[in-house]
Amino acid sequence: MLGVALAVASIVGFSSAAEAKTTVRISHTQIETHPDHIGFVAFKNYVESKAGDKYEVKIFPNSSLGANEKVLEQVKMGAVQFLSVSTANIEAFNKKYAVFSVPFLFTSESAFEKFVTDPAVIAELGSDAEKDGFRPLGAFTAGTRNFYSKTPINTVDDLKGKKFRVQAGPTNVKMMDAFGAAATPMSFGEVYSALQQGVIDGAENNELALTDQKHGEVCKYFSYDGHQMCPDLIVASERFLKGLSAEDRKIFEDAAKEAQKVEFEAWHKRIDEAKEFAKTKMGVTFINVDANAFREKVLPLHQQLLQENPAMKDMYEKASAFNAANAK
Ligand code: GCU
Repeated sequence: MLGVALAVASIVGFSSAAEAKTTVRISHTQIETHPDHIGFVAFKNYVESKAGDKYEVKIFPNSSLGANEKVLEQVKMGAVQFLSVSTANIEAFNKKYAVFSVPFLFTSESAFEKFVTDPAVIAELGSDAEKDGFRPLGAFTAGTRNFYSKTPINTVDDLKGKKFRVQAGPTNVKMMDAFGAAATPMSFGEVYSALQQGVIDGAENNELALTDQKHGEVCKYFSYDGHQMCPDLIVASERFLKGLSAEDRKIFEDAAKEAQKVEFEAWHKRIDEAKEFAKTKMGVTFINVDANAFREKVLPLHQQLLQENPAMKDMYEKASAFNAANAK
């Protein structure tokens, strides 16, 4: 029956509702149980519940559209409409975003969470959006970044001479230099085989890298130094946003807020489970190091980074003051 109806419709020139819809593509680098994906499912549901007659939202997980650094180019062109991307990967497009790569900018995770979800902070990060071609509409937390390796890192001196994968960006390379280690920047998806093949000794990330990306199969020691907290920003194509009516734009902005809320809730649940899984099923040892010794080692770098990259100065000052006032 349906087939006949569609055939008739096409003969008489009606287009089906599906044909009239605009496809909205969302890309991210995580697996489908990751909080970023769960956040984007909430985004999809929100948009389709408000304007499902006009928009079909498709989520592409696992970097299936390409590594984030590459997909951001597509976002600028408007071929991909939304992307969750670490601020570290945005540094190459706008140096202001490097602020979150400054090691120990935040020492309190709750201060970090409050700061990056403040709409004024998101708006300020997006103040160059016309020039950049993309605009952050919200943030996902990615927890704290810590070192993990094939051999234990008990003190900051244990980093010496070792090769660690870092996210792309000059700030990360300088950070590793300051730690006395060597930085090997590469895309997220390449890290597992680099670890396995011995190209690198370790990497730095949150606990989900051990489980979701299976890095815990190779690296059995994870040291909580908490050197960075880099949000994954929910970035929209500026070209796409500009083509929307005010009413539709509001739907996408609200969808991003909904995604942010859902991701944070999912994050806090998942991170404890991931740690437990890594410990009991993968045999990873979690080490509580003297984070202050790690911090002191790289603190002199702050002034150098600010001098070399004045674009991040305003945000650096705001974030530092916020951390100092809110750190528990
Ligand atoms: C985290 C973060 C990603 C990032 C990745 C990485 O998983 O959420 O956005 O790409 O780390 O280290 O590359």
